[in-house]
Amino acid sequence: MRIDKFLSETGVLSRKESGKAIRSGRLTVNGEVIKKPETHIDPEKDSVTLDGNIINYKKYVYIILNKPQGYVSATDDPNEKTVIDLLPERERKLGLFPCGRLDKNTTGLVMLTNDGPLAHRLLAPKTHVEKEYYFEVKFPLSDEDIEKLENGVDIGGYTTAKCRLIRKGQKEANIILTEGKYHQIKLMLGAVHNQVMKLKRIRFDNIVLDENELLEGQWRYLSKSEEQMLQKRNG
Ligand code: URA
Repeated sequence: MRIDKFLSETGVLSRKESGKAIRSGRLTVNGEVIKKPETHIDPEKDSVTLDGNIINYKKYVYIILNKPQGYVSATDDPNEKTVIDLLPERERKLGLFPCGRLDKNTTGLVMLTNDGPLAHRLLAPKTHVEKEYYFEVKFPLSDEDIEKLENGVDIGGYTTAKCRLIRKGQKEANIILTEGKYHQIKLMLGAVHNQVMKLKRIRFDNIVLDENELLEGQWRYLSKSEEQMLQKRNG
C-alpha cells in the first residue's frame, strides 16, 4: 500500500496533507526517513512514524457510543446533529457509519464501524443478533399485552417475530428483539394501544451498555474480545 494512502486510511492526515508531510521528511519507515509519497509499505509489518510517533494501522475500527436524544443515526445530515458529530476529529475521518439505526429521540448503544461486510452480516435478518431495549410506556402494561407482544403483533402489514419481554414495573420493561424494523418498538406498543415515552438500547449482541463507564454522548473502542465475538457471528 502507498504510504500516503496508509496515512489517510488511518485518519492521521488527509491524502494532500500526507504528501506534504512526507516530502518534508516527517515520516519514517522502519527507522528511515522517506520522502516519496509513492513509497510502498506493508501496513501489517512495517513500522511507520510521523514526527516520531508510531502510527498503528487498523483496517477496520469498531466503536460503541451512548447516543443522547437529538442525534440522528446517520453519517451526515443537512439539518440534524449526527452520531458522528459526537466523535473527535481523528475518528470522524475514519469513514465510520452506524450499524443499525436508533430514532432521533431514542438513547443508548450504537455501534459504529467502517467494516461494511461485518455490518452487513450483523444486520442481515437471518443472523438474528439480539438487541435489548429498556422502555417506559404511558399506560400500565397488562400480562396479556406482554404475551401478545412476545408472540408477535401486526405493525402495519407485518407481523413481528417472536421476542422476549422482561417486566421491570407497571409501565416499564426490557424487550429483546432479533429483528429491526423501522420504529419497531413504538409500533409494537402502539399495536397494544399504548405509547412509548422513553426508549433506550442497552445491549447489542453481547455488548452491554455500561452507563457508569459510558455517559450519554461518550464512546469507546470495542475490546479485542468483543470484536472477535462479533466477527464470529454469521448468518
Ligand atoms: N424501535 C423503535 O421504535 N425505535 C428505535 O429507535 C429502535 C427500535
